[in-house]
Amino acid sequence: MSSAHSLQNNSQQNQSFDSVLHTENLSVYYGDFLALDNVSMDFPRKQITALIGPSGCGKSTLIRCLNRLNDLIDTCRVKGKVIYRDKNLYGSKIDPVEVRRHIGMVFQKPNPFPKSIYENIAYGARINGIENDMDELVERSLKQVGLWDEVKDKLDSNGLSLSGGQKQRLCIARAVALKPDIILMDEPASSLDPISTSTIESLIQDLKEKYTIIIVTHNMQQATRVADYTAFFNAEESEKGNRYGYLVEYDKTEEIFNNPQEKMTKKYVSGRFG
Ligand SMILES: Nc1ncnc2c1ncn2[C@@H]1O[C@H](COP(=O)(O)OP(=O)(O)O)[C@@H](O)[C@H]1O
Ligand SMILES: [Mg+2]
Repeated sequence: MSSAHSLQNNSQQNQSFDSVLHTENLSVYYGDFLALDNVSMDFPRKQITALIGPSGCGKSTLIRCLNRLNDLIDTCRVKGKVIYRDKNLYGSKIDPVEVRRHIGMVFQKPNPFPKSIYENIAYGARINGIENDMDELVERSLKQVGLWDEVKDKLDSNGLSLSGGQKQRLCIARAVALKPDIILMDEPASSLDPISTSTIESLIQDLKEKYTIIIVTHNMQQATRVADYTAFFNAEESEKGNRYGYLVEYDKTEEIFNNPQEKMTKKYVSGRFG
């Protein structure tokens, strides 16, 4: 799909970009609880989009919808559409495993397999049917995340023996090895020290040359440092007392931070709530 969509939500609908993925009236429930209300937005190809907003506004809920990871939560129900390559990912005949191969995920807490560094890359690739020269794939993937020089002499060591920042880069290498189109990251640096965080941030910027990146961050400075576009979400109390999340404003990052259209956004980015 390569049609240009305009930013959906904003009053300023004068920008357009090459959209790789979009949601249409996406609402998410846990049982009867509405967690995220009616989100329609486009994600630009080979750009970095940050999702920001106070805790509980549905950032993780949204990002998990984008590769059907919410399927793994029994009570979770999704209304609306997520369109990728002209197909609704929630349509029938869509294989969620296939979806997750094209749209990878990196989590807040680095979660390498309890296997060797080598196997962390090779195992995931093999079970996804990739039959490359594994040595070459392992080396290339580790180089892409800047980890090769640090681990090339200990590829048999357990992935769990690495430092936090190295583990997270291993998880990113594992995602990259599947040759995804889009990489989702849910607060990928929030468990890391400042030096590892800055390594991850520059890695994310390198990765956008090849991949579309969608990153949840509670750190506004991080959004300004890495993201081309930023979507601000907030949570509001409904008449029934349900606190649901919704998209307030979505634009180029510099607009969101320097020239927001919504008062709520202005309050949030200037640190007056959340
Ligand atoms: N597995 C779950 N079961 C029930 N409620 C959930 C679950 N995950 C999240 N929620 C609720 O959905 C809302 C949005 O949560 P979440 O997406 O985690 O927000 P954020 O990532 O922005 O902090 C919150 O009210 C949260 O308590
Ligand atoms: Mg979250």
